[in-house]
Amino acid sequence: MKFKALFSFLNNELSIIEQELEKTAVSEYPLIKEANLELLQAGGKRIRPAFVLLSSMFGDFDIHKVKHVAVALETIHMASLVHDDVIDDAQLRRGKPTVKSKWDNRIAMYTGDYLLARSLEVMTNVKDPLAHKILSNAIVEVCLGEIEQIKDKYDVDQSFRTYLKRIKRKTALLIAVSCQLGALSAGAPEEIHRKLYWFGYYVGMSFQITDDILDFTATEKELGKPVGGDLLQGNITLPVLYAREIPGFKSRLESISIHTKQEEMKPILDVIQNSDVIDKSARVSDMYLQKAFDILETLPKNKARSTLYSIAKYIGKRKF
Ligand code: IPE
Ligand code: IPE
Ligand code: MG
Ligand code: MG
Ligand code: MG
Repeated sequence: MKFKALFSFLNNELSIIEQELEKTAVSEYPLIKEANLELLQAGGKRIRPAFVLLSSMFGDFDIHKVKHVAVALETIHMASLVHDDVIDDAQLRRGKPTVKSKWDNRIAMYTGDYLLARSLEVMTNVKDPLAHKILSNAIVEVCLGEIEQIKDKYDVDQSFRTYLKRIKRKTALLIAVSCQLGALSAGAPEEIHRKLYWFGYYVGMSFQITDDILDFTATEKELGKPVGGDLLQGNITLPVLYAREIPGFKSRLESISIHTKQEEMKPILDVIQNSDVIDKSARVSDMYLQKAFDILETLPKNKARSTLYSIAKYIGKRKF
């Protein structure tokens, strides 16, 4: 089943979100219009809006209230992608040239900032100061996660804890607060929005670990970028942390630097792809996914809960 079919009962609500997203992200200004419209139209899974809407169903669901939160979250996510592609020097995003490659890094900086500012504007429709506190904290953490990633580049000696903290910051928290703020803005009790936060957090951890595995196991076509790009760029992810334990392999990992060429990666990637490190990493992803499922079990049984379950399962085990 295709991903979006999992929540097709929300199609009407999601098309409202799409219209609002376009109003929010697309400016009169030609360059920003071109860049953001292309990013929107190129697709994207809309995971964060889906989580916002589904979580809000644990309170009083009102699309015209919750849409602001969903749009803000997706716009922040878009901003982080535009900036992430600068940091990762990525040429393609959602199968289309990135803002940084089509224009340059300076344009990408301000396109990202523009999106971030527009998301703040949308959030003014939400009156509860707690929602703003939760969201701004998540954005701060995303920034710290991406900065930490730059700081820890090529450091083969970093701990598992460092990796997990980084992916929590750069990915899991935004998904956690999508769930939390969906419920909070719909007036769900604290016990419920706290649980949904943890559900989103665990799903987000599993999601980023899967993303990091796919960087080794998917094809270039599926990824829209060269396989093993994370490692080539010095981004040490979970499979690499396990690969250090392969006898004699750590020194080869240590030899990777900014001077390493794509062609030189082939034998290193071969070892990683054909060892048990992929399975070991997938087990960690599954462990987080299971924790997410355990939380769902404690929530009221309804259509939103079963859909959250299917989405979590899909993205924790996605193939690309
Ligand atoms: C990509 O997120 C960045 C990560 C956190 C791994 P998504 O996979 O949700 O990106 P889109 O929105 O579907 O393109
Ligand atoms: C995404 O991490 C994290 C953020 C966008 C903050 P990645 O760098 O792994 O995402 P992709 O692989 O480029 O989508
Ligand atoms: Mg990145
Ligand atoms: Mg990236
Ligand atoms: Mg990635």
